[in-house]
Amino acid sequence: MNKKTIDQVDVKGKRVLVRVDFNVPLDEGKVADDTRIRESLPTIKKIIAAGGKCILMSHLGRPKGKRAMEFSLNPAAQRLSELINQPVLMAPDCVGDEVERVVNQLKSSQVVMLENLRFHPEEEKNDPAFSEQLAKLGDIYVNDAFGSAHRAHASTEGVTKFLKIAVAGYLMKKELDYLGQALANPARPFVAVLGGSKISGKIDVIENLLDKVDAILIGGGMAYTFFKSMGEEIGNSIVELDKVDLAHSLIKRAATGKTKLVLPSDSRVAEELKAGVKTEIRSNRELRENDTAGDIGPAAEKEYAEIIRKAKTIVWNGPMGVFEIAEFAHGTKAVAEALVEATKAGAVSVVGGGDSAAAIKKFSMEDKVSHVSTGGGASLEFLEGKALPGVVALNDV
Ligand code: 3PG
Repeated sequence: MNKKTIDQVDVKGKRVLVRVDFNVPLDEGKVADDTRIRESLPTIKKIIAAGGKCILMSHLGRPKGKRAMEFSLNPAAQRLSELINQPVLMAPDCVGDEVERVVNQLKSSQVVMLENLRFHPEEEKNDPAFSEQLAKLGDIYVNDAFGSAHRAHASTEGVTKFLKIAVAGYLMKKELDYLGQALANPARPFVAVLGGSKISGKIDVIENLLDKVDAILIGGGMAYTFFKSMGEEIGNSIVELDKVDLAHSLIKRAATGKTKLVLPSDSRVAEELKAGVKTEIRSNRELRENDTAGDIGPAAEKEYAEIIRKAKTIVWNGPMGVFEIAEFAHGTKAVAEALVEATKAGAVSVVGGGDSAAAIKKFSMEDKVSHVSTGGGASLEFLEGKALPGVVALNDV
């Protein structure tokens, strides 16, 4: 990574303004999944241990620029306090006189959590005056919010215009190292597994990865837009008719390039995608007009698992089927198991955030792959080859 990190700054006695991504799911006022908070602990603990004053800022949800207490970061502050075993002060807001007073009274190694940045519309507008107000709260800026790095907001981008020292935290570094290494210098075979319901969300990833990877394994609903483009019967399976031509051109491009584009050779279908339905297996050309595909089939599972097990670098983004429903979770589970086996055999396996991260957690395999990204949109944009504004804004080495 060509950006400075927290290891290259002396935080002792300094006000360290840290952008974290504590956009975590809540359930009845409590944090339902604290992964993102846990993943930020190395940075927070480093600041505490080095005698810095730790000022955390984040968004939570999409309150649309209005103060709405169901989007308060208080539950995240409480969970953090349990995890670091010390109090975490909760500021009444993220900017303003009262917040400045709280921050300026902080002692070394104390931690304060600012209230939700998105209570102010200026955050998402990347408003310079708001960025300047945020910058007044710190001497050093650390961005550890990989999950928000694809957003050019005041707390991720604008604030760096007003603070000379702007560096990456440990989570940001870890994410960029894994994803960056996979794309820039992969051990081969390098395999991408792409799923999810819509091809539109993955087109840029496929285009960026074509010719970079050895094989792209396609699963999920988006496979059926490809099949449609080949003139095959897809029944009632999900399809994006306006992307059929594009799917066809991707197949043609892959046929003449270095990358193998692999579509599932069979599907698990039902009349409806709901729990308890009777499912059937159909090979590619045998789908009927009442069929709805909900998962890849067993032959595709076997083929994908074999390719993954032989790979040395694997990037996975998007489930193979409707994994939330047991009847359609087989394909996604088979891919997850193959990733685990490949990792055991020495491969580097990177799971994109969002649905694939949720799937691997559901199967309790998240600790058995090399890296599970905390960023859904951010990891996708990274795989699309786009520059992330929150990263670009940090100090170069
Ligand atoms: C995420 O959960 O992907 C990040 O926190 C970004 O959230 P956003 O999509 O609301 O900007």
